[in-house]
Amino acid sequence: MKTIAVVSPKGGVSKSTLTVHQAACAKRRGDDAMLLDTDVQMSTCEWDGAGNGLDFPVVGCVRPQVEKFVASLALPRDYLYIDTAGIPVSNQATIAAVRLADLVLIPVTPSALDMWSMGALVEMVHARIAITGGALKAVFVITQATHRSRLARSVREALLETGLPVLNTVMTRRKSYAEAAASGCTVFDLADMTARAEMLDIAAEVEAILAPVAMPRPVFVAAA
Ligand SMILES: Nc1ncnc2c1ncn2[C@@H]1O[C@H](COP(=O)(O)OP(=O)(O)OP(=O)(O)O)[C@@H](O)[C@H]1O
Ligand SMILES: [Mg+2]
Repeated sequence: MKTIAVVSPKGGVSKSTLTVHQAACAKRRGDDAMLLDTDVQMSTCEWDGAGNGLDFPVVGCVRPQVEKFVASLALPRDYLYIDTAGIPVSNQATIAAVRLADLVLIPVTPSALDMWSMGALVEMVHARIAITGGALKAVFVITQATHRSRLARSVREALLETGLPVLNTVMTRRKSYAEAAASGCTVFDLADMTARAEMLDIAAEVEAILAPVAMPRPVFVAAA
C-alpha cells in the first residue's frame, strides 16, 4: 500500500478537494483506496455524507495519535489518502501524516502569501526525506490557477527553489469542484471534462513518482 498525504499549512488551497479526487482517480483505475480525514473540520467526511456516498471508504480521525489509529484500520490494498488540516505543520496530526506518507502532495495557489507560509513544511519534508534515505517523495501542485499565467510560471520557479519538484499539471479554478463538494460527488459525476482530465493527469504524475517505470538494464556486449 502507498500512502499519499495532502498537506499545506494554508487553509482553502484545495487539500480536501484534491484528496477526494485523487482517491476517486485510484478507484477509476481499479485500485483499492481509502481516505483518512485528519482535519477536525471533517470536511471530507461531510463531503462523503452530502450525497449518495463516495465510492471509496472515508474515515475520520480527530485524535492527534493518527499513526495508532491507522494501525487499527483494515487498510486498503493499494492507496491510503490522508487529508490534513490547514494549520501550522507543527500540529501532531500533520506530523503523523508526513511520517506515514510515501508521498506528500503540497497544494499551492498562485499567490505570494501561500509561498511565504511554506517554509516550515518544506523544512519538515526535507528532514523526513533525509531520515528515510530518499524513500519519501514530495511534490507541489499548483491549484486554483485562473489561467496558465505568467504568475503561475513565476510560482513554479519559486517553488522549484525549495528543492522539491512541481507537478506539470495545474489544477485550475473551476466551479465544478465546488459543485462536486456540495453534491457529495466528484467531477467524474459531472460534465466538466477539463476538471476530470486534470485530476486524472495529476493522479498519473503522482503514480509515476511512486512507481517509476523500470529502465531496461543496459546490455554490454564484449568486444570481439
Ligand atoms: N480548483 C478549484 N476551483 C474552484 N473552487 C475550488 C477549487 N478547489 C477547491 N475549491 C473550493 O475552494 C474551497 C476550499 O477548498 P478545499 O476545502 O478543498 O480546501 P482545503 O485546503 O481543504 O481547505 P481547509 O484548509 O479549510 O481544509 C471549497 O469551497 C472548494 O469547493
Ligand atoms: Mg480541507
